[in-house]
Amino acid sequence: MTSPAIGIHDLAVATTSRVVDLDDLAARTGVDPAKFHVGLGQDQMSIPGPDEDIVTMGAAAAQRIIERHGVEGIRTLFFATETGIDQSRAAGVHVHELLGLPRTVRVVELKQACYSATAALQSAAGLIARNPDERVLVIASDVARYEVDTAAEPTQGAGAVAFLVTADPALAVLETAAGVHTAEVDDFWRPNDSMTAVVDGKLSISAYLDGIAGAWDDYASRGGAPIAEIDYFCHHQPFTKMAVKAHRALGQHVGVELDPELVLATTGYNRRIGNSYTASLYIALAALLEGDRDLAGARIGMFSYGSGSVSEFFSLVVQDGYRAVTRAAETEALLAGRDRVDIDAYRALHALGSRDSNVDVDIPGESAVPFHFAGISGRARRYTRS
Ligand code: CAA
Repeated sequence: MTSPAIGIHDLAVATTSRVVDLDDLAARTGVDPAKFHVGLGQDQMSIPGPDEDIVTMGAAAAQRIIERHGVEGIRTLFFATETGIDQSRAAGVHVHELLGLPRTVRVVELKQACYSATAALQSAAGLIARNPDERVLVIASDVARYEVDTAAEPTQGAGAVAFLVTADPALAVLETAAGVHTAEVDDFWRPNDSMTAVVDGKLSISAYLDGIAGAWDDYASRGGAPIAEIDYFCHHQPFTKMAVKAHRALGQHVGVELDPELVLATTGYNRRIGNSYTASLYIALAALLEGDRDLAGARIGMFSYGSGSVSEFFSLVVQDGYRAVTRAAETEALLAGRDRVDIDAYRALHALGSRDSNVDVDIPGESAVPFHFAGISGRARRYTRS
């Protein structure tokens, strides 16, 4: 029996209700705005309101997948995140309840910094290879939060994706070859008692570039496509200039000159959302698929990097007819509909990140999003729908 093609059947992006314009941050911090726009390749960053977090964004993305495809065949929900809201319960269990998913769904959270959504995709493909009638819902959702007044502050952001992994997918087939590379490195991590990441910025960039070289070599040795047969490149985007650096470094590593356009086609959404850790690579994929180019039959090289560090290079092939399931207008409406907040308002929201779980609190559902973090009672987080 030949195994079916497996891959991404549909993909939806979500983000928060609020946005900071990096021109405002530049003015407040006395930095030349060109450093953000050109040096980092960032224009804006999404910021969660008091009633928003990884669950509310993840549920919003997943709701749009479920509305279109129903729940039939979904027996697994993987929730990938770096910014877990609990040390024990998977954030996906809250999404399961908010969306009214069937009891016959296993839910689990995956963690390895920004990488774990790729582990979810590969694990989903394995489950479907065993049972091609099943479908796996993957959610990747993160709030990237660093200390204010640091070099990392302009590389914050927040976003989520949900995607459905199936046999005979409508959007893109996941090719079998994948290259991985793991190396312990103290470039970025978040201790259990910290709401902000600890980061060594320069080391994180060199560790990322070591990761792409190592993952590429493993991909090539395992029968991956020759670089000349890869039409576009999505690289993890902590800030979009990083993807451009990675593209140049990959070309140098392989000994070819790669056209920067092949990666710039993927950066449009992340320039406006900022870093969304686990979701970032798949938001880059959405930007490419939802753009103007005709991608039918194109092979996309995907580079996933999670600090600490785990890297993976793999590839997708875009399906004929894929445009019937892309969501460009929906995504643009979400991005354009965010409220611009000033720096004082953003920094007040930033401080809420360290809320004490010992204190019961009711939080009004004030943000223009479909799901809300409603507060804490008995040390447990509560959620509601609009
Ligand atoms: N006009 C144009 N460009 C300017 C400029 C100006 N006026 N001023 C500076 N620049 C350029 C610099 O030349 C530099 O460009 P190159 O890297 O191409 O040389 C760029 O702006 C950044 O400036 P600095 O080198 O001075 O860097 P910085 O001290 O501002 O820090 C950073 C940048 C390290 C990325 C910092 O924002 C940071 O630590 N961010 C968080 C960590 C991060 O995102 N790491 C990425 C890899 S790790 C990962 O991918 C996992 C993850 O998601 C976190």
